[in-house]
Amino acid sequence: MRKFIIDSDTASDDAVALIMAFMQKDLDILAVTVVAGNVPLEMAVQNALYTRELCQAESIPVYAGLAKPLLRKLETAQDVHGKDGLGDIGLPLSGREADDGHAVDVLIDLIHRHAGEIELVTLGPLSNIAVALLRDPSIANEIKQCYMMGGSGNHIGNVSPIAEFNIWADPEAARIVFDSGMPITMVGIDANVRYAFFDQVDIQDMLAIGTERATFAVNIQGTLNRYIQGLYDFDGFDLPDPLTMAVAIDPGCCRSEAHAVEVITGDGLGRGMTIIDKKQYYGREHKINVAMEVSRARFLEILYGALR
Ligand code: RIB
Ligand code: CA
Repeated sequence: MRKFIIDSDTASDDAVALIMAFMQKDLDILAVTVVAGNVPLEMAVQNALYTRELCQAESIPVYAGLAKPLLRKLETAQDVHGKDGLGDIGLPLSGREADDGHAVDVLIDLIHRHAGEIELVTLGPLSNIAVALLRDPSIANEIKQCYMMGGSGNHIGNVSPIAEFNIWADPEAARIVFDSGMPITMVGIDANVRYAFFDQVDIQDMLAIGTERATFAVNIQGTLNRYIQGLYDFDGFDLPDPLTMAVAIDPGCCRSEAHAVEVITGDGLGRGMTIIDKKQYYGREHKINVAMEVSRARFLEILYGALR
């Protein structure tokens, strides 16, 4: 059984990625750690707990983490995913209890306890991971692989012309993670645009699966659908976190290239940009795997299999 930890700012695409992981029988998910991002922390925690219950996966602990980025105020994406993050369709998203313990403490403890074995999937801003690294830098050498939804492999962003939301929301945290030397496979928003858009035909295929999980996966995307129509003039929605989860579940479905990557921090025009430095112009030795191609067929096979 592969050992996973999933870090998430649980909103409507994260929830589908969690379903994929919860329903994957060859995964031992040691923890879900929650971070503020798409929605405020407590909302993200409730969304993760609701999704866990939907999948009857209550044996998997969920821990709350950072309520804001390291150095800046929290700027959410509630305009993208809804005030509650799950499309504001009136789901009962309150009153559930997270497990005792802070996400950062749990990350450090589990990574040491299972040195060399843990595959970390990050679906939100990297605030929790950065604080864990600041507390104990040695964990960077003990993580087997980090599969990250974040950044852009072609310098085209979503939240700004050149920055992807997870990096943009906490660029200082991202810099700490990229500088740590941890083995990273970065699945950028460019890969999402190429492989993770779902039009009305795809959506009907998903609904035709007919399960509660499939209906949930579609019904929580209404706000995202309207946002995507505005941003890309496309009638449907994108699922970047599920694409990253598919790569984590079956790394063979992804072709990546090893490149040095720089993160732009601060508040200038470049905030949150991930520079793919193919010529190592900036002199960085450590390279990360940047996802270039993902098998859409394999992605759909894993996704639809989880919804069934
Ligand atoms: O830019 C897309 C990413 O930001 C996804 O993880 C989405 O859930 C939001 O967190
Ligand atoms: Ca996310």
